[in-house]
Amino acid sequence: MLMKKETPWCEKYRPKNFQDIKGQEEAITKTKQFLGNFYLSKLTKTRKKALILHGPPGTGKTTLAHVAALETNSEIFELNASDLRNKSKLQEILKPAIEQQSLTKKRKIILVDEVDGISAVDRGGLTELLFLIELTSYPVIITANDIWNRKLNPLRKKTDMIQLKEINYKTIKDVLINILKKENKFIENESLTKISLKSKGDIRAAINDLQTISKIQNYSSIEIDERNKETDIFKALRLIFKGKTSDEIIRIFDSVSMPLDEIILWIEENIPSEYSGKELAKAYDTLSKADIFKGRIYKQQYWRFLVYENFLLSYGISAAKKEIKTGFTSYKKPSRILKIWLYNQKTIKMKSICQKYAKYVHINQKRARNEFPIIKNILKNNKSIQKELKLNDEEVDYLENKLN
Ligand SMILES: Nc1ncnc2c1ncn2[C@@H]1O[C@H](COP(=O)(O)OP(=O)(O)OP(=O)(O)O)[C@@H](O)[C@H]1O
Ligand SMILES: [Mg+2]
Repeated sequence: MLMKKETPWCEKYRPKNFQDIKGQEEAITKTKQFLGNFYLSKLTKTRKKALILHGPPGTGKTTLAHVAALETNSEIFELNASDLRNKSKLQEILKPAIEQQSLTKKRKIILVDEVDGISAVDRGGLTELLFLIELTSYPVIITANDIWNRKLNPLRKKTDMIQLKEINYKTIKDVLINILKKENKFIENESLTKISLKSKGDIRAAINDLQTISKIQNYSSIEIDERNKETDIFKALRLIFKGKTSDEIIRIFDSVSMPLDEIILWIEENIPSEYSGKELAKAYDTLSKADIFKGRIYKQQYWRFLVYENFLLSYGISAAKKEIKTGFTSYKKPSRILKIWLYNQKTIKMKSICQKYAKYVHINQKRARNEFPIIKNILKNNKSIQKELKLNDEEVDYLENKLN
């Protein structure tokens, strides 16, 4: 099978000009001012030679630096912590900067991305960075999440600082809608609002979520599979809510091809259409106990609690009623929560895979998540790497599954 390499949407739709950077108008203006000032007041000593763009993840810091270069027709020179400690590399950058400035037409911007990383390590390149700022004849743009670390005091004195704010959820939603239009995909409004709110101002996170969810919903065979599952769950619900509470009811879910986590959603959704008054209160109480076990199962990996969860959901919910019931009830599908649940299930695995991968190749998890579509293709069908990373069966399933 041909492997289709897919670009992460957050890379594909990384803004290429100032206009496409949303919700950061003030930061854009200030960045332009910094650059303007840098070139205009070359001869004065008052100008700052470096600019720190700081703020929470996924708000456009790295993007703004690159766009500033594009828009001023400058080349970008990116330096990381180890480059800064590398004397000859530094010389190499500074030398042409001093000597050939008038010969090379093209402007340059030096980018030191994620300076937090540099300051975190004691023998990091902070001194070298200050040295670079002192000598450079190119503007330096530095990005950071948190600049209030004491170690950065000397740096703060030498730089202009611009804070990038968390992006308002409505702005994020607009960005998402724009991407969907370009991708020719549709996702219902409600989900878009949810993704935007959940991202808490982090556009990258929102775009990644959008890409994941767009795949789940576009896959039509999910629907077919769902319908089979529904007949089973409807039968089970009927027996639990209406039938006699017997020992057999404990095994009711064995014939339902659905994980217990999903069954819990169906029960929750339909309790109020069968029970009322005291029955209702008792059923909800039982449900919340089941939910507590579910939490322990995940948090502490106490898989033996599954038995209790199962017992509460079958026998427990059944026993909440005073007597058996007759008549027909049309049960509802917990569609909205179900979609979120399905989606969360997927991201949980995606995140745990990224965690393992990031640790293994020594990159940060954020980056791994950003590049997940690529990482997934690397890990997919490669048993030896999967083993090396100690991926569990579920994580491997997740990788091999075409639904993702
Ligand atoms: N203000 C914005 N407008 C439009 N898209 C944005 C914006 N901010 C971030 N994005 C999207 O998120 C992606 C990541 O943004 P970027 O790399 O600039 O974040 P960052 O602020 O540098 O985050 P970090 O602190 O994690 O390095 C971009 O490629 C782009 O797709
Ligand atoms: Mg960045």
